[in-house]
Amino acid sequence: MNSITVSAPGKLLLMGDHAVVYKNPCLVTAVSERLSVSVTESSDGASHFLTPGVSDTRFIEAALAVAKKHWRQSFDALSITTQSMFSGNYGLGSSAAVTVATLFALGEYCRKQIGKKELFSMAYEAILSVQRVGSGFDAASAIWGGTLWYDRLGKTITTVPHTPMPLVVGFSGVKADTPTIVAEVAKKYEEQREKVSRIFAAIAKLTTDAKAKTEEGDWERVGKLMDFNQEYLRDLGVSSERLESLIVAAKGAGAWGAKLSGAGGGDCMIAMVPPEKQPDVSRAIEQAGGKVIHITPQAVGVRREP
Ligand code: MEV
Repeated sequence: MNSITVSAPGKLLLMGDHAVVYKNPCLVTAVSERLSVSVTESSDGASHFLTPGVSDTRFIEAALAVAKKHWRQSFDALSITTQSMFSGNYGLGSSAAVTVATLFALGEYCRKQIGKKELFSMAYEAILSVQRVGSGFDAASAIWGGTLWYDRLGKTITTVPHTPMPLVVGFSGVKADTPTIVAEVAKKYEEQREKVSRIFAAIAKLTTDAKAKTEEGDWERVGKLMDFNQEYLRDLGVSSERLESLIVAAKGAGAWGAKLSGAGGGDCMIAMVPPEKQPDVSRAIEQAGGKVIHITPQAVGVRREP
């Protein structure tokens, strides 16, 4: 029986959170935590999902619907199972990873040659059909992997080469409600257009500088740029006391800079940390009530597994 297994990585947003929704650039890195999807023909002619670690199966259903529409193919008797290395609670992008992995697995299943751009536009369509909002950077990250410069809602997607990134990641213990926070920012944008536009333009400038410094491997400067980015996120009102206390703890223990990663309100904070200070910073994050997540940035994008 034709059985296909595909895995896709999670992600961390390094710079450009929220501004990216308004056609500004972001920097995102794919992480070593992966989610896999297996597709096989079902033995009884009906479709079955077995999806531990995936809290919302709507993304799999949306991927199936988009694949059916684009490829004019019926996928009515499939068994789809998932396996996740990471909790959907951390905000590492499990929805995008499962959408991308499902589409890629379906493509392999019916022997389609799909390019990255086609896969991206299908995944973004599937994600928008479920959550209505989002910039699509997480789908790009799951497809291309590595560290990406993502601009104008995916019109520009380029890989940013760099040396190993000294990143420490702390989970705040709270799951962020991304669609709600994105809607709150949209309301602010409507009510205070000038102020919020100025914040987005400033974040875009910091993100551009961070790309250059990332390419140079100047992690100290990237850390500082993260600090400035965090100030703007605080002004936008998307940080939280918990995130702030983890950020303060990381910087007090020697991080070059730190910020929230993603929508805010919860999920993870990230810190750029000199390698010799990483044990101290990790301990400080845990003492402040966070959970350090051991991931490696710059992971490979979606791929077929043996
Ligand atoms: C959420 O992980 C990141 C946001 O910028 C939303 C998005 O880009 O889709 C807040």
